[in-house]
Amino acid sequence: MAKLQILEYPDPRLRTVAKPVEVVDEQIRQLARDMLETMYEAPGIGLAATQVDVHIRMLVADVSEERDDPRVFINPEILEKDGVEAMDEGCLSVPGIYERVERADHIRLRSTNLDGETVESEAEGLLAVCIQHEIDHLEGKLFVDYLSDLKRQRIRKRLEKSRRSQTPEPVVRARSPAI
Ligand code: NI
Repeated sequence: MAKLQILEYPDPRLRTVAKPVEVVDEQIRQLARDMLETMYEAPGIGLAATQVDVHIRMLVADVSEERDDPRVFINPEILEKDGVEAMDEGCLSVPGIYERVERADHIRLRSTNLDGETVESEAEGLLAVCIQHEIDHLEGKLFVDYLSDLKRQRIRKRLEKSRRSQTPEPVVRARSPAI
């Protein structure tokens, strides 16, 4: 297994629209394992392939307290969504920043699993939010896109400044998981 490098905002590669996975082969399964390892080490509760500079439609997630419920979604497609959930979201590609975003609270999803089978599933609450956040990544979209231009510029400047000074962003509000 290998830990992968996570791209950080405003890296233009995060704006790439990912392509569908055609065949679930050993290479895809290995990438899923590496993405999970990277997500757990970060630590985060979700990671999209886009964030590790692989532009295919795959995401991993684990929203369990015990960190023992890894999920992999290939070619995810939201069939239905309802309800509203407003949560402070963070993102491994936007380190140290947490902002409130509204998303559907419940989704029904079609995706492919690691055996190459098409499956339908449902998710609610944190997992639903996480999957919607990761699907946005596959479309080249980031949670900061939901904020005002002014707020987004401030975030960009703050991240650039902290990168220049080589000091990592302090974990200000660890209560919000990074996704
Ligand atoms: Ni993210």
